[in-house]
Amino acid sequence: MTKRALVTGANKGIGLEIARQLGTNGYEILLGARDENRGWQALENLKKDGVVASFVKIDLNDFDTLHGAAAKVGILDVLVNNAGIPGNLKTETSNLDMGKSPFAYTTDNLRQTMEVNFFGTHELIKSLLPNLAEEAKIVNVTIPVSGNPYWQPLAYKTSKAAQNVMTMIFAVELAKTGGKRQIFGVMPGAIATDLNGETEGALGGRVKSARYAGKLIAGFILDGKNYNGRLINRDGSEIISYDSMDFSA
Ligand SMILES: NC(=O)c1ccc[n+]([C@@H]2O[C@H](COP(=O)([O-])OP(=O)(O)OC[C@H]3O[C@@H](n4cnc5c(N)ncnc54)[C@H](OP(=O)(O)O)[C@@H]3O)[C@@H](O)[C@H]2O)c1
Repeated sequence: MTKRALVTGANKGIGLEIARQLGTNGYEILLGARDENRGWQALENLKKDGVVASFVKIDLNDFDTLHGAAAKVGILDVLVNNAGIPGNLKTETSNLDMGKSPFAYTTDNLRQTMEVNFFGTHELIKSLLPNLAEEAKIVNVTIPVSGNPYWQPLAYKTSKAAQNVMTMIFAVELAKTGGKRQIFGVMPGAIATDLNGETEGALGGRVKSARYAGKLIAGFILDGKNYNGRLINRDGSEIISYDSMDFSA
């Protein structure tokens, strides 16, 4: 039977490329996007590569669309939580203000970013639990969240930190139930997309393309391994594993 994958924020950037990779590897794609026009354009783009895909409205700020998707999409083998925002970092010259002081963020900045990256993602996962196949994979596209003197976007990092902790805690619960469902995060590193306005090859070659990220993330989905609870870097290393937590208490 054809496997089915729902990818959120799949109208462009990393999400579109994950959809392309899974679609060209035999998955039927449910292309989650909040903007219908851009969603349809992405569908046309994927069809050129022979991908079988259909549009699903997913707006992480509008829970009705999430509940509506759960009622419509049927059984899923893969859910990729890719949709996300960097959180109020734009300046007049850049999409990402690398030097913004963490003390310059307002509570509203933090709340708006948390609403998309954490609350919306949390609500979508919970809404789709009944749709997940016995061996389904939930994959969160994420970032490392430690302090770093060069890059300290407070709203982005705190919202992704919450998402990362949710990944680990949900993984424990999935493991407890003895099933084969898994949830894990992949951190593709710096990728040239609208999110940061970077160009491929910048930062001494560290900024890679969206196509690179799509292949990387799809690779962890397609390789048949169990990554439950892992947060995996682009080189396959991990920054945290719930295995290292003390379960004895
Ligand atoms: N670029 C990087 O260096 C990098 C590195 C590590 C992780 N990531 C993660 O990768 C994911 C994709 O980012 P990207 O770099 O590909 O950026 P992008 O090109 O800006 O794509 C972001 C996607 O998220 C969607 N989105 C934003 N807010 C949404 C909402 N409220 N509801 C539904 N969809 C929403 C956007 O849809 P619209 O077109 O409707 O705005 C778009 O499809 C994000 O979670 C990001 O944190 C990115």
